[in-house]
Amino acid sequence: MSVNTFNQSSRELHPGGSLSGEIQVPGDKSISHRALLFGSIAEGLTTIDGLLPSEDPLSTASCLRSMGVQISQIVSGQKIQINGVGLDGLKEPEEILNCGNSGTTMRLLMGLLVGKENRHFVLTGDKSLRSRPMERVGHPLKLMGAEIKGRSKGNLAPLSIYGRKLHGAVIGTPVASAQVKSAILLAALTASGKTTVIEPKHSRDHSERMLKAFGANLQVGGEMGRHITVSPGSILKGQSIVVPGDISSAAFWLIAGSFIPGSEITINNVGLNPTRTGILEVMKMMGAKFEVFNKRDVTGEPVGDIKVFYSHGLKAFTIDAEIIPRLVDEVPILSVAACFCDGKSQIKDASELRVKETDRLAVMARQLSSMGADIKETPDGLTIQGGNKLKGAKLDSETDHRIAMSLAIAALLAEGNSTLSRSNASNVSYPNFWEHFELLRN
Ligand code: S3P
Repeated sequence: MSVNTFNQSSRELHPGGSLSGEIQVPGDKSISHRALLFGSIAEGLTTIDGLLPSEDPLSTASCLRSMGVQISQIVSGQKIQINGVGLDGLKEPEEILNCGNSGTTMRLLMGLLVGKENRHFVLTGDKSLRSRPMERVGHPLKLMGAEIKGRSKGNLAPLSIYGRKLHGAVIGTPVASAQVKSAILLAALTASGKTTVIEPKHSRDHSERMLKAFGANLQVGGEMGRHITVSPGSILKGQSIVVPGDISSAAFWLIAGSFIPGSEITINNVGLNPTRTGILEVMKMMGAKFEVFNKRDVTGEPVGDIKVFYSHGLKAFTIDAEIIPRLVDEVPILSVAACFCDGKSQIKDASELRVKETDRLAVMARQLSSMGADIKETPDGLTIQGGNKLKGAKLDSETDHRIAMSLAIAALLAEGNSTLSRSNASNVSYPNFWEHFELLRN
């Protein structure tokens, strides 16, 4: 794996034709990272079915292997096996841990490693990750006694961590971030005394669900389930995890199917955790036609199949702080959708988008403007007047996986051909995106 493999890949994109068929999107990225991490610090065997075999989880697996965890080869369609080393079993790595492009890998590892006493760890990543803020995780961990150093007063990787005995704390997080919350929960597993995390808004809760399943003593309470308390002392036991399809990957087809005339797409086995389904709420606001069926529970996560149909005259939408945490990764594709809605859409309270793999507000505004969209950046969002026809253009993912895939759908909806530079950025979260792109086209 190389985090830079996508840099040269340019693709010609021709609009036209409806999208139809049945697909299964690859495994959920958030759940895949957690299954690898929690399986590694559990005792005994963990098996993972449906793990996302993309660059980001591969980064997590490679860091864990460098600390002595045996993880079987990650191959699409094959069950993964992890021989867990227990809560204190991670070895001091001889090499720098390379988190690639993955913020989840770096932030969750920070939480996992700060309590590994008397061991030294150095974490780094690609250019994008080395520019992303880490103090949001470092600060609360330091309140628990962690020792973390890095560039820019500890905010930027490379980071150096020296493992210490931590103490429990009550920590209010200023941003609703599942990565920050999960890092604290991981550190709390081996701290002395209880730790409580209080979130300003409910972020995705995969860590809470899965840590409980592994046997952690974790309680969720408070208003809207936003106080999460971990009491140390429990041993984690290996589990059999089944990873559902990633709704953030399904989102590209949900929007493409809604807006490309004549389309009808079925996406099977999609994770429907209510902390992730904001995209479906927005589709309802727009008046999009879709059905969710075959709802079931798979290893503690709600799952279902979704069928989406083209509809004419979809309405503009406004989204703000209330819903942003439930669709934080879907803002790029929703900004494409807004270009084709009737009326003015507004995306507010989304300044978090500025510190993702790229500044996604700036990049979407820049790329969609080059196609002729009426899109304006605000400090914390986007205002998009729908109804302007988009024209084919020279597009660039600017190295961001979700931008690459959002622009691919924009190009299908445009008039005239486009080229998309650095299109293989999609490998970070959706390795067979371009295969599905061809498969669904008629
Ligand atoms: C993730 C949480 C989100 C999301 C990211 C994955 C996770 O980030 O954007 O793609 O797996 O916990 P924040 O927690 O920073 O909002």
